[in-house]
Amino acid sequence: MTKTVSVALGERSYNINIGPDAQMSAACALVRGRHCLMVSDSNVMPAWGDQCEAILTAAGATVGRATVPAGEQSKSLACVQDLYDQALAQGLDRRSVIVALGGGMVGDLAGYVAGTYLRGISFLQMPTTLLAMVDSSVGGKTGVNLPQGKNLIGVFYQPIEVVANLDTLSTLPEREYVSGLAEVIKYGVIWDADLFASLESNVAHLASRDQAYLTEVVARCCAIKGDVVQQDEREGGLRAILNYGHTMGHAIEQVSSYNTYLHGEAITIGMHYAGLLSRDVLGFPEDDRQRVNALMAAVGLPLTFRGEMPSWDAMRQAMSADKKTSAGVLKFVLAKRIGEVAFGCEVDDDLLVQHCGCLVDG
Ligand SMILES: NC(=O)c1ccc[n+]([C@@H]2O[C@H](COP(=O)([O-])OP(=O)(O)OC[C@H]3O[C@@H](n4cnc5c(N)ncnc54)[C@H](O)[C@@H]3O)[C@@H](O)[C@H]2O)c1
Repeated sequence: MTKTVSVALGERSYNINIGPDAQMSAACALVRGRHCLMVSDSNVMPAWGDQCEAILTAAGATVGRATVPAGEQSKSLACVQDLYDQALAQGLDRRSVIVALGGGMVGDLAGYVAGTYLRGISFLQMPTTLLAMVDSSVGGKTGVNLPQGKNLIGVFYQPIEVVANLDTLSTLPEREYVSGLAEVIKYGVIWDADLFASLESNVAHLASRDQAYLTEVVARCCAIKGDVVQQDEREGGLRAILNYGHTMGHAIEQVSSYNTYLHGEAITIGMHYAGLLSRDVLGFPEDDRQRVNALMAAVGLPLTFRGEMPSWDAMRQAMSADKKTSAGVLKFVLAKRIGEVAFGCEVDDDLLVQHCGCLVDG
């Protein structure tokens, strides 16, 4: 029941393999005869390190390990330095492979190390969160945070393979899993009305983490992201559509100091907001807008702020400071209907303020 999705980027092309553990060694054939440094965090290494090592060993690799503390604070230049030290201590050379075993934090960090160590060595992604499987492990964005802001340092660096072992989702905390569903729903809204309708009909399969259904869904999301990245690898245009709900979502994360909402939760509030703007600016049908909100609520995602709304001025400022803003002018991705969006949309300030009020409960 494994599925393979190909991302065609010339000599940087790669496959994404999705399924339960059983067939994953075959998917790792590229590591045969090479040394792998398996990078993971302090939650994932104890839970999945042995199994991942067994997969790589069965594929013919030798394996070393490096563990960083779990949490966004490890996406830092200090951890990059530490991983360079460990790579040198383990004698990693230009044929070696860095394997990212973990969520988006580990993938971004290890990918950056792989992209810069010895001017770039091979990099294999083994995502273990739903968010990493459908989003961060695909597309080649890697990097770390600075005290001044998130993801300010980084390189575009594609993996040689992505191995999404769905077994790993069995230990993912519920809140993290549900947060990943926000990105899944986003793909339906921006690109694929059939995927969206399928999600509506399979809320119970999503809730039970049904592997057969998740294999289909993760593969479809990766195919959509792959399609977009193939057309616009470095975010010159189309790739912006992946940021539906993210302009407001990133601002919410920032003004709440990244400790109140998980990424997917902030993005859901952002998609609720984008739906209102879309209705008024592009005529997004009210029925579609309500379907999107209903699906997000049905899987357990928040549509509104918990408790008090952060200050509008702070959110407006955070949106303007987003590195995707050009010359301070806010550009939104807005929906025309479920399955189709437009990017680069400008919205009147009055409307921005007015709809922000709808994001508070009651
Ligand atoms: N590169 C990209 O295109 C891209 C896209 C979206 C997000 N991101 C980045 O991804 C990061 C967020 O990723 P995330 O949501 O996966 O968070 P994460 O990597 O921090 O993981 C969330 C938590 O779940 C734990 N965890 C992971 N897998 C587990 C498993 N199978 N079992 C038990 N616990 C597990 C982790 O230890 C952590 O505590 C952010 O840094 C964000 O900037 C990158």
